[in-house]
Amino acid sequence: MTQHRITLLPGDGIGPEIMAVTVQILEAIAPRFDLEFVFTEALIGGVAIDATGNPLPPETLTQCQNSDAVLLAAIGGYKWDNLPRAQRPETGLLGLRAGLDLFANLRPATILPQLIDASSLKREVVEGVDIMVVRELTGGVYFGQPKGIFTDETGQKRGVNTMAYTESEIDRIAQVGFETARKRGGKLCSVDKANVLDVSQLWRDRITAMAPQYPDVELSHLYVDNAAMQLVRAPKQFDTIVTGNLFGDILSDAAAMLTGSIGMLPSASLGAPGKPGVFEPVHGSAPDIAGQDKANPLAQVLSAAMMLRYALDQPAAAACLEKAVITVLDQGYRTGDIMSEGMTLVGCQAMGEALLKALA
Ligand code: IPM
Ligand code: MG
Repeated sequence: MTQHRITLLPGDGIGPEIMAVTVQILEAIAPRFDLEFVFTEALIGGVAIDATGNPLPPETLTQCQNSDAVLLAAIGGYKWDNLPRAQRPETGLLGLRAGLDLFANLRPATILPQLIDASSLKREVVEGVDIMVVRELTGGVYFGQPKGIFTDETGQKRGVNTMAYTESEIDRIAQVGFETARKRGGKLCSVDKANVLDVSQLWRDRITAMAPQYPDVELSHLYVDNAAMQLVRAPKQFDTIVTGNLFGDILSDAAAMLTGSIGMLPSASLGAPGKPGVFEPVHGSAPDIAGQDKANPLAQVLSAAMMLRYALDQPAAAACLEKAVITVLDQGYRTGDIMSEGMTLVGCQAMGEALLKALA
C-alpha cells in the first residue's frame, strides 16, 4: 500500500462543492490501485481571510510544503474584492506559488469530441485541438519590483509594476517547454513581445540559444498579439506554447475556451523535482453559481488525474479518472456550462454520482 499525503485547499465559491466530488472519487479508486490517501484540509483565499485575516496563513504553507501534493479548487469572490491587496484572496494564491517555487504551470487545452458543439468556434476550426500552454508562474510582471501605487513630485498617484526576467528564470521554464514539446508533438512556440519589450528580447535570445540542445523540437516564435489571433483563427497549428506569466494567464484562458468550457480544464503547477506541486482547475471560484449545485466538477477531477500522473507517479489511476470523465460525457451528462441540445442536464453532485457509477 502506497501512502500519499495530500493537502486539500477547497477555497471559495464553488471550490468546496467540486472538491467534495473529487475527494469521493479519489477514495473510490484508492483500493483498486492499492493507494492510501491521507487528506488534510487547509485554508486559503477568502475563507482564510475570514478565519484568520490572512489569505495564506503560515500553517497552510507549512502544511503544503510537508505534503506529497496539493489539490486546490478555487479562490476569490465579490466579498473580498475591495480589501487592501495584501488581504485579497489572489495574494494568497500568489504567495502559495512563490512559497512552493511553482515556476512551471502546465495548462492543457484538449478538445473532447463529445464537447465540440459546446465550443463557440466552428467544428472544423476546433476539431482535433490539443495544446499545452507552459506558463512561467513565479516571475514576470506578477512579481517584479518595484511595484505599488506611489505619489510623484506633482502629487499625482502613479501605479507601477515591473516586468522582469533573469536568464536563469527564463532558462528553467524554457527547459520545461522543450521537454514538454518533446514528449508531445515536437513543436514549441515561444510567445513574447520582443518587438517592444526588452524583457521579451532577453526571453527570445535565451530560448533561441537553448534550441540546439533539442534538435528534435521545432521551435518558432510569435508576438503575443499575433499568438492571440492565431489561437482563435487556426488553433491546430499549436502543439506546445511556452510563455511568461502575464501572457500565459491571458492565452491560457483563450486556449481553454476553444474546448467549449473553461469548466473542463485542469492544470499542474510544478517546482523543483521532488517538491510538492499544486493541481487545480483553470477556472475560478464562480461566485455567481456557488452553493447552488450547478458547478462542473470535471476540471477538478481532471486536476486530480494530473496529480496522480505528475506528482504521485500513478499513471494507471490517472487514466482511470480520465476514462470515467469520458464515459459520463458519452452517456450524455452535462452541467450547465457544457450543456447542448439532447443532453441530460445535471448538477455538481449528480455529475459526481455519475462518475462513481462509471468507475464501478
Ligand atoms: C489564474 C488566475 C490567477 C492568475 C489569479 C486568480 C491571481 O487568473 O490562475 O490564471 O492571474 O494567475
Ligand atoms: Mg487566469
